[in-house]
Amino acid sequence: MPSLKFAVLAGDYIGPEVMAEALRVLQVVAQRENLRLDYTEAAVGGAAIDRHGSALPESTLKICAAADAILFGSVGGPKWEKLPPKEQPERAALLPLRKHFTLFANIRPGLLYRELTDASPLKTARIPDGIDIVCIRELTGGLYFGKPKETTTLPDGDVQAVDTMVYRKSEIERILVTAIATARARKKKLCSIDKANVLETSVLWRKTVTDYCAQHAPDLVLSHMYVDNAAMQLARDPNQFDVFVTENMFGDILSDEMAVICGSLGMLSSASLGAGKNSRGLPFGLYEPAGGTAPDIAGKGIANPCAQILSAALMLRYSFGLETVATRIEAAVKKAVTSGTRTGDIAFGKPSVATRAMTDAIISNF
Ligand code: IPM
Ligand code: MN
Repeated sequence: MPSLKFAVLAGDYIGPEVMAEALRVLQVVAQRENLRLDYTEAAVGGAAIDRHGSALPESTLKICAAADAILFGSVGGPKWEKLPPKEQPERAALLPLRKHFTLFANIRPGLLYRELTDASPLKTARIPDGIDIVCIRELTGGLYFGKPKETTTLPDGDVQAVDTMVYRKSEIERILVTAIATARARKKKLCSIDKANVLETSVLWRKTVTDYCAQHAPDLVLSHMYVDNAAMQLARDPNQFDVFVTENMFGDILSDEMAVICGSLGMLSSASLGAGKNSRGLPFGLYEPAGGTAPDIAGKGIANPCAQILSAALMLRYSFGLETVATRIEAAVKKAVTSGTRTGDIAFGKPSVATRAMTDAIISNF
């Protein structure tokens, strides 16, 4: 019986709540599909600070390294907000984890089912068939990681902070490999988003994308867009995009915008892949919902579990090669959130979403 070896890093606030639901779905899936779940839970984020004094303990890294994939919840929240910025869970756990495993390609599907267009702040007339786009975000470069990154007091007593946006051509080319493969599997349309009218890194980005695609992907329809315009176009007519690729910070912002036009942060799943292969010869990856820890609704049983469950489906697809099973989970989620009275109930923590009931509906549709 094939066994699925993955690390479970649930994290903080709603992290463990929605993780429990994803594991519940995976148990049923494993039983039906004759798979064996072989997962190890490990502490991360604020929970790990409280227990081990570090947001990303060495023991957690070891468990991740020994696994074929990481299923991640979410980290951070008010409880740790008073810590120095560099020690806060997001910066001390999630970012180093992405960097440690060189998970440079973040794939975020923006999906709104046509039955749920009411849940989007966009008028249904603009998105009669729902939304189906993909954001490919570079995840280990740019402003998040560039050096220098520091705050200093100047000789005149003023205080100055600096973040550095830096990209190498090779970093741009490797994210393009993911973007091209994703576009090829869909409508063969790729939009690269930058700020080449202002930023040096964007000038390099645009030139690299143009040259690389001309040589390696002449079959794709390639376009370029400035990020400010892209933010507007996403709100105006999201389906003009099919797959878009962009640097780390722009991707962070645009993917939140994408989540809200798709009705809910509670539906946004993501896969972060690198060059590393797991013991099956497939991409090692980290799979996480992109909605955060939602401290305001934690413990109430109303967090939307879909993003975590959809992230688990992405894990089965990319790191375990179980395309058919992943598609069946996605179909079960779709059926659960679009059927009958659930229509419109996908908002993050809307009281009408009962976490367990939502999962039960998904399981019964699998
Ligand atoms: C995301 C999150 C993270 C990011 C934070 C928590 C560091 O917002 O995954 O989009 O900015 O990448
Ligand atoms: Mn974000």
